[in-house]
Amino acid sequence: VRHGVGIRPAYHFLPAKNWQNDPNGPMYHNGVYHLFYQYNPLGATWGSGNLSWGHSVSRDLVNWAALDIALDPTAPFDHNGCWSGSTTILPGGMPALMYTGRIDNAKVQVQNVAFPRNPADPLLRDWVKPAYNPVISLPADVPGEYFRDPTTAWVGRDSMWRMAIAAKVGGPNGIASTLIYRSKDFRHWKRNDLPLYTSRAASMVECPDLFPVAEPGTEEGRLGYASGTASGAMRHVLKLSVTNMTQDYYAIGRYDDVADTFVPEVDGERSVEDCRTWRRFDYGHVYASKSFFDTRKNRRVLWAWASESDSQYDDLARGWSGVQIVPRKVWLDGDGKQLRQWPIEEIETLRRKRVAALQEAHVNAGGVNEISGAGAQTDVDAIFEIPSLEEAETFEPNWLLDPQKLCEEKGACVPGGVGPFGLLVMASGDLREHTAVFFRVFRHNRKYKVLMCTDLTRSTGRDKVYKAPYGGFVDIDIEQHQRSISLRTLIDHSVVESFGGGGRTCITARVYPVHAENNNSHVFLFNNGTGIVKVSRLEAWTLATAAVNVVHGG
Ligand code: FRU
Repeated sequence: VRHGVGIRPAYHFLPAKNWQNDPNGPMYHNGVYHLFYQYNPLGATWGSGNLSWGHSVSRDLVNWAALDIALDPTAPFDHNGCWSGSTTILPGGMPALMYTGRIDNAKVQVQNVAFPRNPADPLLRDWVKPAYNPVISLPADVPGEYFRDPTTAWVGRDSMWRMAIAAKVGGPNGIASTLIYRSKDFRHWKRNDLPLYTSRAASMVECPDLFPVAEPGTEEGRLGYASGTASGAMRHVLKLSVTNMTQDYYAIGRYDDVADTFVPEVDGERSVEDCRTWRRFDYGHVYASKSFFDTRKNRRVLWAWASESDSQYDDLARGWSGVQIVPRKVWLDGDGKQLRQWPIEEIETLRRKRVAALQEAHVNAGGVNEISGAGAQTDVDAIFEIPSLEEAETFEPNWLLDPQKLCEEKGACVPGGVGPFGLLVMASGDLREHTAVFFRVFRHNRKYKVLMCTDLTRSTGRDKVYKAPYGGFVDIDIEQHQRSISLRTLIDHSVVESFGGGGRTCITARVYPVHAENNNSHVFLFNNGTGIVKVSRLEAWTLATAAVNVVHGG
């Protein structure tokens, strides 16, 4: 029996075997990228009490070497699990890991620090947890299991360190809060009276991330980056992972660096209080994202976990579970309202054979055209142009709140006016299995609304697998963009990551096609609208297998 050989990703980050979840403590230090991750060394399930920090290093964010586990749950202050956290590089270049330890039988959560035993070791292989841990114990108004996931720390105008920690404040029905702690020496921490942000609408939010963004039109905006740390001069992004939705939401807003509070700037149907109305990095299947500032290339880079969406039985049979997305560069769009994301350019080093280079091509109404030579490891980058928006279907206002539902109602097989058009990926030769990534354009208040979907309905012949479509709107004025919209899709066996409208809307899906176990996969262009769609440019490359935590010898 082949246990998922055909669906194991070839260039997404995953350990050689076993379970992984959140990315932890990503950093670039002394010429080396480090990624730590929530890891269960004992098997392919979460195993809350065994969680450790797996550790890998890379020079290019594409090829990774596995090192020994950095943190094991062996100390009195973490013996029920070393949970998520972050790294901070202290003045003088000393990296510090800050993480959540689960301690007693009540699984109470505390925050601990760890340092490299030998800071001169280029790979930082060995980590020491000082005996003075925990550095932050559970506050009296927080229930034991709701205090975790410290962020990277930053220095304020008063020269004190600050970091954010997720907590539920005020008993079992408490309020989801992002607390701020301050310290002079990175060892003694004191909680601010005011949280950074609270959301009454959510019960618990995990894995906070706060980072500055460069304004379009400024010098930094031109360079495309804001340096690593928070300051009142710039707008910031606050990202929260909402437990009961298993989804990450972000808002752009103002961080007050005296009060240490964050006020989101919201537009349209979004609200300040309810972070579940904010924008999402990804409208598909990712969670617990974490970014870091990459001083090698002056960019902010985002990681996130894409768990499996088949069954735990399948995970156990395969012996592995969970992947990280291809790291993405993140920046503020020219409209100042939304982030854009793009796969880090290093992924292009895996491009091997260019299997398509189309210009001024088209897909007829009802057409399905194969991109021959493209398969289970492919990078497709396309620009579609819609000759006429005349045929666009009328948008119904109640669709605004639930793009995913709209993708369900109007899946790839439901013919439309302008669209659905896009790609069929991880497709069997007979098209019986395929995952559709597509756009559909609606007429809305004399303007147009662009919907992007990844439709999994036919992704696999198996049942008991998640197959509902994912969807988000692309916040773009399609008329001002010459009726054009771009789509980049990275196909990697069971991972399909798509970037719509230049990375304004991203959708990651996990798929489990049966044909992939023994047969080639195919990629097609399709158009199920009433008019032709031009393909003004399309390039597709096969991608090589990266060296990701490969076990040598043995
Ligand atoms: C998010 C999370 C974190 C926690 C970790 C434990 O997925 O629940 O809040 O620290 O996973 O593995």
